[in-house]
Amino acid sequence: MDQLVIIKCGGSILKALEPSFFQRLKDMQEEGKQIILVHGGGPDITKFMNVLSIPNEFINGVRRTSGRAAETAEMVLAGRLNPWFVYQLNQLGLKAIGINGNDGALLECDYLKKEQWGHVGKILKVNSGTLTQLIKAGFIPVIASVSRNLTGEILNLNADTVAFEVASAMEAESLIFVTDVNGIMAEGKTVQKASIASIHELINNGVITGGMIPKVQAAIGCLQSKIKEIQIVGKEMKGTMIIKEEVYS
Ligand SMILES: Nc1ncnc2c1ncn2[C@@H]1O[C@H](COP(=O)(O)OP(=O)(O)OP(=O)(O)O)[C@@H](O)[C@H]1O
Ligand SMILES: [Mg+2]
Repeated sequence: MDQLVIIKCGGSILKALEPSFFQRLKDMQEEGKQIILVHGGGPDITKFMNVLSIPNEFINGVRRTSGRAAETAEMVLAGRLNPWFVYQLNQLGLKAIGINGNDGALLECDYLKKEQWGHVGKILKVNSGTLTQLIKAGFIPVIASVSRNLTGEILNLNADTVAFEVASAMEAESLIFVTDVNGIMAEGKTVQKASIASIHELINNGVITGGMIPKVQAAIGCLQSKIKEIQIVGKEMKGTMIIKEEVYS
């Protein structure tokens, strides 16, 4: 889809998004862009797990998810953050509709590696027809990053990966990761343009760590598909442009 923009909002930034961010979405829509939002919810899931005394575990920014943690993730993402996000958009007169991977069989998935990661899912298929129908009906789909497999087990999905899979299945024009930092940081500054080679170097040097790793991996995956523009930005929409390779002039 030519004018389709996928915007992934990190759980780390969701509640800090300001009216100007939502207004920008409205402006984009008025300019003729179609929008799909994807959101995570890491901090809120962690908070509720603490309340429920469920232990937390992270490996390279990816959560190891027990059955109870997966139940909490579904509850928080689909039951709490998603309705909040949809409300913010509806309030501005945008027709938002909240869904998760399970709705309209949007994200077919299964265990990534059950012994190692527990209830973490890998996406087998994006049923893009579900999203196309919603967009054609004038809705902005707001996707919570959780789904269920064929036997009904809850699978927690990394929201960056969901955004990437949705963007490539829908052949989106651009993908914007909105997070709690103004893009990739190195030596205290935002990297304005990051190539695949420089990203690998920053990972190897230990500059890119934690939750930034699945994000840059998703961004690199996008470069290998048809998506033209990929950015990692803060809530003011300023940050890093991800490019295939350095252009020397
Ligand atoms: N080089 C780097 N530049 C910027 N951020 C980095 C870097 N290395 C690691 N990070 C971490 O990555 C974090 C962003 O990823 P994180 O997974 O926490 O947020 P998110 O993806 O926006 O939210 P969620 O995972 O809930 O969807 C930053 O807050 C920062 O701590
Ligand atoms: Mg993350």
